[in-house]
Amino acid sequence: MAPVVPSLARVAVLLSAVALSVNAQKSTFPATPLASKRFSYPTGIPYQVDTEPELARGRQTGYNMCNSTTEGAQSLCQTSFLNALDDFCLWAPPQPNSLIADTEGEAVAWCSKPGRGTRLIPAGALKGVQFTKTPDYVQVVGFIDQTFINIAGDDFGGEMDPHGADLRGNPLGSLVFSNAFGTDKNSFTQMVEWHNFMGGNQFCFKVCDPARPNAAKFCEHIYDRIGCAYNAPNAAKNGTFESCLGESQDFPGVYTENGQVMTYKQPAESLGAITTVPYQAKVPASSSCSVFTSAALFAALGTPTAAAPGGASTTGSGTAKPTGSTGGTPSRSAGSAGASTTGSSGGVETFRVSVVASALGVVFAAVFLS
Ligand SMILES: *[C@@H]1O[C@H](CO)[C@@H](O)[C@H](O)[C@H]1NC(C)=O
Ligand SMILES: *[C@@H]1O[C@H](CO)[C@@H](O)[C@H](O)[C@H]1NC(C)=O
Repeated sequence: MAPVVPSLARVAVLLSAVALSVNAQKSTFPATPLASKRFSYPTGIPYQVDTEPELARGRQTGYNMCNSTTEGAQSLCQTSFLNALDDFCLWAPPQPNSLIADTEGEAVAWCSKPGRGTRLIPAGALKGVQFTKTPDYVQVVGFIDQTFINIAGDDFGGEMDPHGADLRGNPLGSLVFSNAFGTDKNSFTQMVEWHNFMGGNQFCFKVCDPARPNAAKFCEHIYDRIGCAYNAPNAAKNGTFESCLGESQDFPGVYTENGQVMTYKQPAESLGAITTVPYQAKVPASSSCSVFTSAALFAALGTPTAAAPGGASTTGSGTAKPTGSTGGTPSRSAGSAGASTTGSSGGVETFRVSVVASALGVVFAAVFLS
């Protein structure tokens, strides 16, 4: 008789273990991944796109319904745009002196022009930008004093995209729209696939035309540790503001060697810093570039001031300060934006910097995960 009770107890334990693991799974993933949600702008935008506060990373910290009442320095708008050289937004932290790795889940939109209910990139922060339109995507790549948009001066940053390990996106619930692929500039299409690297006083932001067949490949999100030189190879020049047409890049991670098409596999973070990448990404040809002055492009941002407002100074130290506010995404690692500083096919100098950044990222990840 005696064994009956223990074995029932064992069954009960097993059942509750199953229930626990089902619960654990439930509490990780949203019912619908962010990249599968569709909205129309402006009339179909909900207050918040991510409505699952019980999941591991908690609630969406900002909102998607943005208008004149939300515009300004305190805005938590998480609806972004990439339309043109004078009309784009970047994802950056809500609080001064933050690391992208700590805040990628809660980044807010900082835009180059008013009218979208967001924060504005302060005058003088942008040092050079190249906008390129190709058959498959548009991108902005540029140089910025990142302390003006709340990124710590010594942060080599990382990648944000609408995926993330838990499929809720970084930032959570973030939306991106563009009018760049149609003829009606008042008509905005949701960009389903995009990536935005921020850090090292550089950035690249690409949105892929959802009507084209390879949007997910051109806007690939798995190469988060190798920066702009590999994810958005470009000819952007510090000090120059230009709008170009261009050919499409190779897909990030794909390259041709001796006539053979190869795919790079980014090593796991646990294997340490990435010290070499076996190829240089080809910078696609650009044409019809028109050059502008920043004053002409960004007049609505006002007159530049000498320093970042709000005391957003650099930390002066390489020590990461994990706050534990975001978690569970592969793009947590340091991944220098690393736009080419030379304007040529380069990327080597930049890559050395990003190796250091990756090393810092590993240390950071070790602290963060422990
Ligand atoms: C403006 O946006 C805020 C924040 O999302 C929202 O609460 C408010 O209802 C909006 N106002 C209008 C007129 O749409
Ligand atoms: C870009 O040029 C400015 C000078 O105009 C310089 O202060 C800044 O460090 C440069 N940025 C990068 C990333 O090289």
